Amino acid sequence: MRMWAGSRAVRSSLLMLLLTAANVGAPPPALSEDDLGGSGRGGRHKRRAFPGPHFHPTSPTNVTAQMSAHAYLPCRIKNLGNKSVSWIRNRDSHILTVDRYTFISDERFAAWHQAATQTWTLQIKFVQERDAGSYECQVSTEPKMSHFVQLDVITPQVTIAGEADIYVNSGSTVTIKCVITQALEEPNYIFWYHDDRRVVSAGSGRVLTVDRHPPDTSVGSLTIPSPSLSDSGNYTCAPASLSQASVMLHVLSGEHPAAMQRGTTSTTDTSGGPELRLHQSVLMAALISLLLCVCSPSFT
Ligand SMILES: *[C@@H]1O[C@H](CO)[C@@H](O)[C@H](O)[C@H]1NC(C)=O
Ligand SMILES: *[C@@H]1O[C@H](CO)[C@@H](O)[C@H](O)[C@H]1NC(C)=O
Ligand SMILES: *[C@@H]1O[C@H](CO)[C@@H](O)[C@H](O)[C@H]1NC(C)=O
Repeated sequence: MRMWAGSRAVRSSLLMLLLTAANVGAPPPALSEDDLGGSGRGGRHKRRAFPGPHFHPTSPTNVTAQMSAHAYLPCRIKNLGNKSVSWIRNRDSHILTVDRYTFISDERFAAWHQAATQTWTLQIKFVQERDAGSYECQVSTEPKMSHFVQLDVITPQVTIAGEADIYVNSGSTVTIKCVITQALEEPNYIFWYHDDRRVVSAGSGRVLTVDRHPPDTSVGSLTIPSPSLSDSGNYTCAPASLSQASVMLHVLSGEHPAAMQRGTTSTTDTSGGPELRLHQSVLMAALISLLLCVCSPSFT
């Protein structure tokens, strides 16, 4: 009799296995129902054959966001079924979101579900330094499952290369470089100001460029090809949504300061030495060609 009972037990577990195997193609909702109970007799077998929700091993644990930009903390979950996904801020255990609903009055927080990648992403808009820290992606299984993501917030540094004062002789090309480090993204724009006026390149002969030096540096350059005394002053570099940096430009009147000062101010103010010389030579050339035309009848 004992033997018989034993083989019956074996048969029933074989049957269970067969049933389990036959259920492999079952739709996800049925799976979650099984997982929800978990304590039933067949629960063990079924949990093994159909793993319940679990975090994708490639779901990132460290995220770096740039100050004032938007931060995205992904949480990849397989076989979520109809379980809920919550995002919790570790610092104060504040529940930020549950599924698509936001549970914090701070409107910068939102959760997005991308079905294709089975990802629940916590979005933090206009991220601040105080947002840095650990965030928990929690799935409403019993017991609860947690995946932690560490958010680092980096603040780009804006400086002007070199000293706080730049000295240059009038007429000698000067380039002011604005260096932005620890910047994950290139700023959308860099404005330059000379005292309170915005510096534009169009028509002014000034050259404004931005160069990216991966991974995290951008350099904005302002070139004044032939500075005159009136170009002296405070130059401020103002990259989009970042801090500013300033430098004082002192344009010296060259090797003959005394002579320059005696000269008419209008001349020194409106154009530098080389530019003036250029104008003169152009005028001279025009005069010569005019004379040539007048003097040689073959041209008429
Ligand atoms: C999950 O779905 C099952 C049916 O598929 C339902 O019985 C159960 O209550 C659901 N659980 C939750 C938390 O909605
Ligand atoms: C995440 O950052 C911590 C320090 O904040 C570091 O120790 C860890 O190695 C990083 N992990 C990955 C996967 O980069
Ligand atoms: C230059 O201008 C900026 C912006 O207006 C200001 O913050 C800075 O103090 C000025 N620097 C000097 C030396 O005047």
